[in-house]
Amino acid sequence: MYCNRRGRNVDFSYTEEQLMLQDVARRIAQEKIAPSAEHFDRVGEFPLENIHLLGENGLMGIEVPVEYGGAGMDSIAYVLAMVEIAAADAAHSTIMSVNNSLFCNGILKFGTEEQKQKYVRAIAEGREIGAFALTEPQSGSDATAMRCRAVKQADGSFVVNGKKSWITSGPVAKYIVLFAMSEPDRRSHGITAFLIDTSKPGFHRGKTEPKLGIRASATCEIEFQDYVVAPEDVLGTEGDGFKIAMGVLDAGRIGIASQAIGIARAAYEATLAYVRERKAFGAPIGTFQMTQAKIADMKCKLDAALLLTLRAAWLKGQGQRFSTEAAVAKLTASEAAMWIAHQAVQIHGGMGYSKEMPLERYFRDAKITEIYEGTSEIQRMVIARGETGLR
Ligand code: CAA
Repeated sequence: MYCNRRGRNVDFSYTEEQLMLQDVARRIAQEKIAPSAEHFDRVGEFPLENIHLLGENGLMGIEVPVEYGGAGMDSIAYVLAMVEIAAADAAHSTIMSVNNSLFCNGILKFGTEEQKQKYVRAIAEGREIGAFALTEPQSGSDATAMRCRAVKQADGSFVVNGKKSWITSGPVAKYIVLFAMSEPDRRSHGITAFLIDTSKPGFHRGKTEPKLGIRASATCEIEFQDYVVAPEDVLGTEGDGFKIAMGVLDAGRIGIASQAIGIARAAYEATLAYVRERKAFGAPIGTFQMTQAKIADMKCKLDAALLLTLRAAWLKGQGQRFSTEAAVAKLTASEAAMWIAHQAVQIHGGMGYSKEMPLERYFRDAKITEIYEGTSEIQRMVIARGETGLR
C-alpha cells in the first residue's frame, strides 16, 4: 500500500473485499447515522440501536477472525470503514473504535482461547459494548503513575481496588480491559492486564463526564472495591500489562487517525459545496484567492493524513512494528481535522457557527482526536524517541 523503509511494495489499490466493507459502512453511515447525528449530539444519548446495527454488519470486529464473531478483514478495511462512520458522526466512530481496537485487539493478541471465545465474540458482534481502562484521575499521559492496585491472592486470583477515569463507553460496557498495578515497585513492569465483567460485585460506575464533543459516546469514571479477578481472567503474562496497553494503543491510534480523517472529510466536502454556491461581491466565494488557498491546504492535509494512516495500517497487516507510523498518522490526521474544521467554520461564516449546520459539531468533535489515545505531545514524543533512539 505504501513504500516501506526499504523502498518496496508501492501499491495504492484496494481489494474488492476492502471496497465492499467500505460500501457497507457508507450505506449505514448515510442511511442511519447521518440523519440521527444531530439528535444524538444534542441530547447526548448513547446510540445503542445503531451500534447493534454496526455489529450485525461486521463493523464492531472488523479485524476479528470469523470464528470469534468478527468480519475477518484487515487493517486497511478498518481504516476505510472508520472514515465512513466518522464522516457521518464522530461519536459513533468512537464507540466503534474502542470495540474494534482497544477491546478486541489486545485479547486477540494476548488472550487465551477461552478468553477469545468468552469476551471477544459478544463485542465483535456488537451485542455488548467493550471498554479500555488505563487512565486515572492523576495519571493520563504518564500511564505508569497509575494507583489502581491488584493484589495477588494465594489461589492466583487478584483483588482490585481503585479508580479509573475518562472511560469511553464506561456507562454501558459489559466487559472492560483493565490495567492495574500488581507490583508497584516495578513501575511499568509491575502492571498487569485483566478482563473485567461489569456485572460482577465490586464494580461501580461513577460520574458521567459532560463533554465538548462526541457527546453521544458515553464517558464515565469507574471504581473497583474488592473486585475479584479469577486467574483465568488475567490477560497475558503478569507484569506485561504496560506493554500490552502500549501495543493496543499503537493499533488504536490508527483508528483515531481514521476518525479524524472522517471528520475532516465531512467538513471539507461541506465546504466545497458551500464555496460553489455562496456568492459575495457578485461571485462564488470559491473564486476568491483566500478561499482557494484554504481549499488547497485542506485537500493537501486530508490526502496526507489518509496516506499516512494507510501506511500505518499496511505495516500492521505485515506484522511489522508500527508504533512510530501510527503516531505519525494520528498526529497528522488529528491536527488536520482540527485545522480543517476550524477553516470550514470560518468559510461558512455565521452558518458555520450556527447549530443549523453540522460544521460546529465537526469543530467540537475534532478536538478530542488531539487528546485521547495519546495527546499530540505524546505522539511527538513517541515519534522523536523512535527516530533518535534517545529517551
Ligand atoms: N509497544 C510495546 N512496548 C512498548 C511500547 C509499544 N508501543 N512503548 C513502550 N513499550 C515498552 C518499552 O519498550 C519499555 O519496555 P522495557 O522497560 O522492557 O524496555 C516499557 O514499555 C516502558 O516504556 P517507556 O519507558 O517508553 O515508558 P514511559 O513511561 O516513558 O511512557 C509513553 C511512554 C509513550 C509516554 C506512554 O506512557 C504513553 O503512550 N502515554 C500515553 C498514554 C495514552 O495514550 N493514554 C490514552 C488513554 S486510553 C484512551 O484515550 C481511550 C479512549 O478514551 C478512547
